[in-house]
Amino acid sequence: MTGFAAYQNEIYLQGLAGNVPPATTDPGALEASARERLGPGPFWYVAGGAGGGETVRANREAFGEWRIVPRMLTDATTRHLGVSVLGTEMPAPVLLAPIGVQSILHPDGELATARAAAELGVPFVLSSASSHTLEEVAEAAGDAARWFQLYWPNDPDVCASVLDRARKAGYRVLVVTLDTWTLAWRPHDLDQAYLPFLRGVGTAIPFSDPAFRAGLQAAPEDDLPMAILRWVQLYTGTDRSWDQLPFLREHWDGPIVLKGIQHPDDARKAVDAGVDGIVVSNHGGRQVDGAVGSLEVLPEIADAVGEQVDVLFDSGVRTGADVVKALALGAKAVLLGRPYAYGLAHGGQVGVRHVLRSLLADFDLTLGLSGHRSPAELSREVLRRAGSRGPAAS
Ligand code: FNR
Repeated sequence: MTGFAAYQNEIYLQGLAGNVPPATTDPGALEASARERLGPGPFWYVAGGAGGGETVRANREAFGEWRIVPRMLTDATTRHLGVSVLGTEMPAPVLLAPIGVQSILHPDGELATARAAAELGVPFVLSSASSHTLEEVAEAAGDAARWFQLYWPNDPDVCASVLDRARKAGYRVLVVTLDTWTLAWRPHDLDQAYLPFLRGVGTAIPFSDPAFRAGLQAAPEDDLPMAILRWVQLYTGTDRSWDQLPFLREHWDGPIVLKGIQHPDDARKAVDAGVDGIVVSNHGGRQVDGAVGSLEVLPEIADAVGEQVDVLFDSGVRTGADVVKALALGAKAVLLGRPYAYGLAHGGQVGVRHVLRSLLADFDLTLGLSGHRSPAELSREVLRRAGSRGPAAS
């Protein structure tokens, strides 16, 4: 067995020496396992959603509405999982989603994640809310592909400076997150009065930025409260509009991806604005409670703009079957979120690596066992609506 599926043999063979994997391989058990290892603040910061958690549930339910229909005798022994997205070659149609403040899960935080991703050649999208600077994470990633996610700061000089640093540090694609211009009502965090940024965690990128520091009377090392206050002013409470996007184009010469799209009209506006890609995402149900599951809207968005821009997907991806379904419904690649954050809580780099290898092995096997040799072979014909009697999906 070759490729990512080989992880299965490796695990069984390790068993002969009395070893078991560093964390569960059951995606459904990973969250509970992380809960045992984390304090309630960090755990709920990851696991929690907006409001009553309806969107978190809707994201998972949306996957349950589709079923894969396996095909036989298709010679799927040898498979090619690699894809190219916006000039980045990747060994499988999977990236690591931007997740902020990772040092609350393990002291190595984003450095551990970047190293694990680099080992496997999987691109890592670094969050603006990183607990390490973007230069430090670039060094940890070495030659591996890296993208940068922007929370658009409310100061053009800081924005331009951060983008300049990201470009110089080798981040190739800019992912602009639109859905979190202010934090949603998040009861789990509110009940514990837990917000890492107010403790100066997840602020490494602006705190190390010359333009940000120029706006302070004292350096963040000398006056943390004032630096945090400035951070709050810059990063929360200011929504943007479509006509402001040219500013980003002026300051970023690589591909630009808009993350947080859930409506086909917004996808069309993204195309009109000249961006290169979109991420169909609802931030893992952390922003708008009572919203549609992200996978529910993927087909109509892919129909609307899939020919013009690269459509990526996240929110609720947990298994190899989920990756198959998202690709079949029109995504070119998916972003893995919470599962790798839970992996980080299992020993840092080794835990992220394990979770990622597990997902990729599960995807590789599910792809092959359902009769397909590459992501390009997946289309809606592969799926059927749960409970429906008709032939294929529409
Ligand atoms: C996120 N997400 C996120 N997105 C982003 O653009 N910038 C960020 O800093 C963060 N931070 C962040 C922290 C935590 C703890 C979580 C769980 C998520 C959202 C992330 O990129 C992705 O959209 C979701 O994680 C997808 O949902 P699932 O699959 O993780 O449920």
